[in-house]
Amino acid sequence: MFETLSLLPNDPILGLSIAYAKDTNPNKVDLGVGVYKNDVGQTPIMRAVAEAEKLRITRDSTKAYTPPAGVPGANEVATQLVFGVGHPAVEAGRVRTVQAPGGCGALRVAAELIQRAKPGANLWVSTPTWANHIPLLGSAGLTLREYPYYDYATHSIDFAAMLNTFKEIPRGDLVLLHACCHNPSGADLTPTQWDQVADVLVERGIIPFVDMAYQGFGEGLEEDAYGLRMLASRVPEMIVATSFSKNFGLYRERAAALSLVFATPQQADAGLSQVLNVARAIYSMPPAHGSTIVDIILHSDELTQLWQSELTQMRERIAGLRVQLVDALHGLQQARDFSFIAKERGMFSFLGLTVAQVHQLKNDYSIYMTDTSRISVAGLTVEKMDYVSRAIVAVL
Ligand code: LMR
Repeated sequence: MFETLSLLPNDPILGLSIAYAKDTNPNKVDLGVGVYKNDVGQTPIMRAVAEAEKLRITRDSTKAYTPPAGVPGANEVATQLVFGVGHPAVEAGRVRTVQAPGGCGALRVAAELIQRAKPGANLWVSTPTWANHIPLLGSAGLTLREYPYYDYATHSIDFAAMLNTFKEIPRGDLVLLHACCHNPSGADLTPTQWDQVADVLVERGIIPFVDMAYQGFGEGLEEDAYGLRMLASRVPEMIVATSFSKNFGLYRERAAALSLVFATPQQADAGLSQVLNVARAIYSMPPAHGSTIVDIILHSDELTQLWQSELTQMRERIAGLRVQLVDALHGLQQARDFSFIAKERGMFSFLGLTVAQVHQLKNDYSIYMTDTSRISVAGLTVEKMDYVSRAIVAVL
């Protein structure tokens, strides 16, 4: 049977980490996968997480199964983190949150739920979107369509084209929006643009599906949730996938939440039963460790404060690196304007290089990024800034 299977190439994002690990060049720089790194190139365990892990070991007395929706306290705090305190949809009993194995798990369970409710439904994704959105959501059976988003020529969102496409989308279709820190472009909607998007979605009866993988990495925990919170107060139905991989640094623990907004509490109960049934048929229940850490941190004022200060440092470090990279590139050449990088937010920006230039950076300088020239800004360090900038200018 297995002889029918052919060898596939490595994943376009995760494959970069494998290639980077094998590279013996001492100057190598990993700007590939979206994983936060500090100024010595490490992905540290956050102090708040380490403290919560210690508490967990002394507190827990069993490894018995968790309930199908995951650790109950974690769902409560995740709902609050996503929607804020006293959100009208939550207060009205229209929101249900379950844990999921990572942001990918949350996205996939949501896609399976949509597939049950509306087989083959159209899901409109931004051009471009995170490369893994396509197989992850499409292979659940949804029909993926594209809406214009990032204009490579102006290095900004083509908002008029985006909105015009939304005005043509049939009633009942879904649109996938990035809550903040758009992956791969780093170009985010302003609050005013979010409001305009909401007007069109409400008017046309389009269902928002929001992927929030980077809450806290853009402008701040509250600011980054502006669009989704506003939408959730205006639409009858909505889906939100939230990852804790980045903002709690829990990548390998696969901690995430799926929140669903339903039209009524009765529909919410029915919808929740379907979500749990979907999960049962794939993995039964989510892993508990990461979500328990989130639960412990967000139920402790002291650990919440520590976590928020660490998250702020990470966000500010990335924002600082963006400015430094622009300054370094402009210091070496004036032909090309890179100032857009300092205006973008989150982990990523496109450098605007050709595939050949990206490959040259990898082959000649051991600088790794996706073929689209998306860089994970956190992979830069002050020490490597000059090396990376000179290499970029050299291949231009
Ligand atoms: C990325 O885009 O690099 C991250 O979201 C990690 C991944 O799984 O692709």
